Amino acid sequence: MATSSGRSCLQYLLHLAQDNLDFRLPSHKVYYSSRSAFELWGHGRTHSELRTSLLNYPSENMSPFMHKDSTYRINVYTFNKTLQFAERIKRIDAMEYLQFEGTVNLKNPQHIFCLLEDYGTDPNNIPEHPDYIYFGRWIADGQRELIQSHSVKNRHFIGNTSMDAGLSFIMANHARVKENDLVFDPFVGTGSLLVACSHFGAYVCGTDIDYNTIHGKGRSSRKSQKWRGPDENIRANLRQYGTEKMYLDVMVSDASKPVWREAALFDAIITDPPYGIRESTRRTGSNKEITKPTEGIYVESHVPVSQAYHLSDIFTDLLNFSAHHLVMGGRLVYWLPVYRPEYCDEMVPLHPCLQLISNCEQTLSSHTSRRLITMEKIKNPEDLDTLANVADPRFSPYQGHNAFREKYFSGLNKRCGKEDHRSAVNGD
Ligand SMILES: C[S@@+](CC[C@H](N)C(=O)[O-])C[C@H]1O[C@@H](n2cnc3c(N)ncnc32)[C@H](O)[C@@H]1O
Repeated sequence: MATSSGRSCLQYLLHLAQDNLDFRLPSHKVYYSSRSAFELWGHGRTHSELRTSLLNYPSENMSPFMHKDSTYRINVYTFNKTLQFAERIKRIDAMEYLQFEGTVNLKNPQHIFCLLEDYGTDPNNIPEHPDYIYFGRWIADGQRELIQSHSVKNRHFIGNTSMDAGLSFIMANHARVKENDLVFDPFVGTGSLLVACSHFGAYVCGTDIDYNTIHGKGRSSRKSQKWRGPDENIRANLRQYGTEKMYLDVMVSDASKPVWREAALFDAIITDPPYGIRESTRRTGSNKEITKPTEGIYVESHVPVSQAYHLSDIFTDLLNFSAHHLVMGGRLVYWLPVYRPEYCDEMVPLHPCLQLISNCEQTLSSHTSRRLITMEKIKNPEDLDTLANVADPRFSPYQGHNAFREKYFSGLNKRCGKEDHRSAVNGD
């Protein structure tokens, strides 16, 4: 991918990873999808075209990196073909028409230049000559190593719905998480999303309805272990990656009955709600609501019973909560399960206070996928025209769509439940 900067007429070349392609553009940082970034000096279909292009490149853009007091190295990268060492050296020697006045330093050069040869994408049909050639100055590498270093395979505390490291970082990027932000996950599980957000310097907190998950008790998700060991909890996960100081807390709470005071508290809300496929979608309360304690009064003997938490309600509650509790410009990032044969964009829940920023698909099986939805708060609920909008987005101007969505979601659990896509979701 080549991109240009009008400011100084510089062009840049990004070498991107070939996975999760749909998620690339909405990521404002290219930590996850980018392998390397280069300042592009020349390009062409042949080495002769490259030479012409390089000789036409403004010398004032090159000279700061080629003067006699500098040290440098030239790397040769090939895509879909392996070049022998001798061939690489030949390629480097052929670049002598560039006026490098500095000294070669292979170990620790001040500047690294790269010749990149693209031999297409078909490993069974590798052309003799490259399809395209680029030359540029290396600027930086992405942070692909985070996927390995934060892999859930080596994580202290995991569950069978732990979000893989790469996708957790993508979610944090879509939410534009930055230093000193306050990030909340209402369906926190084992805290994978908190781990990613804390890496980017955000303070993190979360809630989950499951006591065992929040307190790191109960059966272990590891095959080799029956019960969770001591200190298997979210705080210990952050400690493992050196971000414990960003951990605020987690608590047992039902997302359908938020406990937060009415205020715009969070810079981002990032979450993976339950789909009812790998974990049940429950909320507290009975259908008759007769066991509900008097509001504001703590009744010691009260044990909440649970009832089904329908998917359409989960998303309605999540959007409504975000409209009230995100700061202006704050972002909501969440996964929406989708039955592919029936999906259309109108199914994505909307809210008058939240602007849809992106909607990216991750395919799970031939019939199921999930979509990463990113929304930004653009209005305060109290600034909406009608009070009805504030109370419940189901009664918003989008009511028609929402009735349609509700019908869609009520059938989704049953349809998706037929297929087990556990490995696709958990593949780290
Ligand atoms: C898909 S998992 C989240 C996984 C999490 N991202 C992780 O990395 O471990 C969904 C979580 O929602 C929780 N949950 C289900 N119903 C809930 C409710 N009504 N309120 C809060 N949490 C709920 C489940 O206990 C489960 O841990």
